[in-house]
Amino acid sequence: MNVQSTVSRYSEGFDLPVRGDAITADRYVSRDYMDLENKNLWPRVWHLGGMIAELEEEGDFVRHNLGKESVIMVKQADGSIKAFYNTCPHRGNRLVIGEVGGADRITCAYHNWQFATDGTLVKAQDPDDFPNGDPCGKLKLSEVRCETWGPFIFYNMDPNAKPLIEWMEPLADRLKGYGLEDWVRVVYMSADCEFNWKIIRDNFNESYHLPTIHPELATFINDGLPDTLFEMYPSGHNSMWMKGHQATTRNEAFQTGDVPAPLDDVARAWGVDPADYKGRTGDVRQAIIEAKRRLGPGRGYKNYENMTDQQLVDYFHCTFFPNLTLTMSPEQCQILRTEPHPTDPEKCVFQHWILVPRVEGMTEVEGPIGKVPLDWAEHRHSVYGDGQSLGFVADQDLSIGTTQQQGLNSRGFKGCHLTNQEKRIQRFHELLDDYVYDRI
Ligand code: FES
Ligand SMILES: [Fe+2]
Repeated sequence: MNVQSTVSRYSEGFDLPVRGDAITADRYVSRDYMDLENKNLWPRVWHLGGMIAELEEEGDFVRHNLGKESVIMVKQADGSIKAFYNTCPHRGNRLVIGEVGGADRITCAYHNWQFATDGTLVKAQDPDDFPNGDPCGKLKLSEVRCETWGPFIFYNMDPNAKPLIEWMEPLADRLKGYGLEDWVRVVYMSADCEFNWKIIRDNFNESYHLPTIHPELATFINDGLPDTLFEMYPSGHNSMWMKGHQATTRNEAFQTGDVPAPLDDVARAWGVDPADYKGRTGDVRQAIIEAKRRLGPGRGYKNYENMTDQQLVDYFHCTFFPNLTLTMSPEQCQILRTEPHPTDPEKCVFQHWILVPRVEGMTEVEGPIGKVPLDWAEHRHSVYGDGQSLGFVADQDLSIGTTQQQGLNSRGFKGCHLTNQEKRIQRFHELLDDYVYDRI
């Protein structure tokens, strides 16, 4: 079945066909489906493991837990990074408990076996007491594929996986102009949530929910159709361009009256008088492109020069299959992802990172959780609903995630009934099934 969009806009060549498979509730609630994901999905895709900047000296490590699995990424003497499963080859004890750290050796807390930073066993108690001789210098930690892109470290448990840069196609290229490699993480939050990880993947694979769930965005992000541009890639990733510095075309009053707040303030900040745009709010975007080109470099935004006009003012949502979203503006990159719970299909871990470019003289930045210092962010973990905000837009998405999970448990739910603009959801689930049922 190839549903051609009627209203929704897909770029030429990127409206890929879907089969129309039913998307029923079992995939969000069943342990069997979760077991298949653990067996056939997670070990075969690239995972964002951490930031390169977290590793300064040889032996520095960052750990990433994914469901029941755990991987450590360790800085090597030559500056490269190796990744290992976080398990001791003696009797399986988890080696590293903390999220970040550093030492000359990785030491197991059970029988004190010690490993060099390259994973080689260098010390074992009673080395002459092994039937096949001293294992030191021979035994190694189990290694995992590890590559970097931009400021990020990725790993893949599949030794035969495509190189990271090929797997990213074509998004590495599309993201080039932002200069992400020099950006710094200023927010790192996560939360335990009461819904399956795919609930938020679906949410990020459509903008249909914006008018209802995020009405506050309507005056500076244009979520109207056909202004929003969707792309689906053969790699399984997809993207969505939403026009920024424009009010939604779903609301006529925003277009014909005064430039609505907070777009009016944003315009003023770039020397554009909103009074000049009364009755033509849609033109503010172009005026800001010109102002950013003129004033940006003088304000320290050196990264503007390599950006397209679209990148200068719009929101570029890139969703990597299966569970990583980068939402880009020229001044901010939000990393939004959900990861499986170790045992419960009706729970997940939600992560929200924010990266910003370094701008000379800037000491703090305005983000979704208010002003934060332009400095390295410590990890803050909370249980969703305990009063800790993950940013108001993320809070709104998480809140609906909880009630959607409840609704999916009803006998009355017969499967999703999607619009054309939600076709990325359809494709995501079909590709997911192909992995889960081992068809690719
Ligand atoms: S389990 Fe690690 S040293 Fe024994
Ligand atoms: Fe949302």
